[in-house]
Amino acid sequence: MSSPNKPKPLLPLKARLSISLLMTLTDASCRSNGTVNRRLLNILERKSLAKATPINGVSTKDITVNAECNIWFRLFTPTDNVTGAEGDNKTASLPVVIFFHGGGFTFLSAASTSYDTLCRRFCREINVIVVSVNYRRTPEYRYPTQYEDGESVLRFLDENKSILPKNVDLSKCFLAGDSAGGNLAHHIAVRACKAGFQKIRVIGLISIQPFFGGEERTEAEIHLEGSFMISMARTDWLWKVFLPEGSNRDHGAANVSGPNAEDLSGLDFPDTLVFVGGFDALIDWQKRYYDWLKISGKKAELIEYPNMMHGFYAFPDLPESSQFIFQVKDFINNRVSNSK
Ligand SMILES: *[C@@H]1O[C@H](CO)[C@@H](O)[C@H](O)[C@H]1NC(C)=O
Ligand SMILES: *[C@@H]1O[C@H](CO)[C@@H](O)[C@H](O)[C@H]1NC(C)=O
Ligand SMILES: *[C@@H]1O[C@H](CO)[C@@H](O)[C@H](O)[C@H]1NC(C)=O
Ligand SMILES: *[C@@H]1O[C@H](CO)[C@@H](O)[C@H](O)[C@H]1NC(C)=O
Repeated sequence: MSSPNKPKPLLPLKARLSISLLMTLTDASCRSNGTVNRRLLNILERKSLAKATPINGVSTKDITVNAECNIWFRLFTPTDNVTGAEGDNKTASLPVVIFFHGGGFTFLSAASTSYDTLCRRFCREINVIVVSVNYRRTPEYRYPTQYEDGESVLRFLDENKSILPKNVDLSKCFLAGDSAGGNLAHHIAVRACKAGFQKIRVIGLISIQPFFGGEERTEAEIHLEGSFMISMARTDWLWKVFLPEGSNRDHGAANVSGPNAEDLSGLDFPDTLVFVGGFDALIDWQKRYYDWLKISGKKAELIEYPNMMHGFYAFPDLPESSQFIFQVKDFINNRVSNSK
């Protein structure tokens, strides 16, 4: 738990305890030799199975993309709108949110209960189809495996539309991700711009407290060190096992707006919504990301939650978590009506 002189957001006790427990166990599973204790993590990480029978108007199904590499996705379909019971026309086409889970590239999966819950909320409350991607993780697989796995899921969808519900509209795709998933969503958006997909058109990017970094220590990293979830020791470890051996954190995958960054100016990069929290030690990097999108001539919007920490949206009891879902919904609806 944070020391008394560190700044703290106001959080329910339950949320604080579960984060504190999670962090203790996470630290215990990361070894200094760059491996993780998967056996310990598998016991700790709560998982949910896919459920074909609708719960609260959402049914889920796991679809394999590449069995050998364990690449798959969990498909969330809103059941109340798929076919009209009386044959009435409720079959309006639905946008797709392709979601990348967080966990520092190392932890959690598309089956994690917290992500199953979040994707169900997106599906039900926004009325979209959600594809939650399971990619290979670090330290077993380094960069760029995670970006390649994400791209291969997009390619699979582009070629295999028939596997999705009939009312899906792949010309209204959104990429979304939180934390390390926000990093993936960005880099996969760049790849999607160059991929030449036949059916998929990415019309928006939802970047939720994305995990970016660099060699420099930012003011927020120093000021908020150890106060909440993110510590430099943890993020340094995560970058070290993710980035190619011999490179430092100014690699373009981490320092996304630095000198090794991909030039976006010539790309048809999607409009982007960036969420940041005032108690997130990564906030300075995230704001620079937003600034850099603007400098590159891209449309971007920044929504700041001054009192929120990294991962706040995963706590449905927080009013900010509901507000967050509404803002994602607004963004999606606006992009869909503007792209008609
Ligand atoms: C890393 O440490 C663990 C636990 O001490 C050990 O089991 C494992 O073999 C080590 N791996 C490497 C690559 O050194
Ligand atoms: C069904 O879809 C329509 C149009 O997108 C939406 O307004 C309505 O809320 C949805 N109904 C349910 C039960 O989700
Ligand atoms: C589309 O699905 C088929 C059958 O599952 C598979 O063989 C093929 O590789 C898929 N396409 C892509 C691009 O993954
Ligand atoms: C990225 O790299 C540049 C050059 O090394 C450095 O000045 C900057 O602080 C780094 N971080 C960010 C967020 O740009």
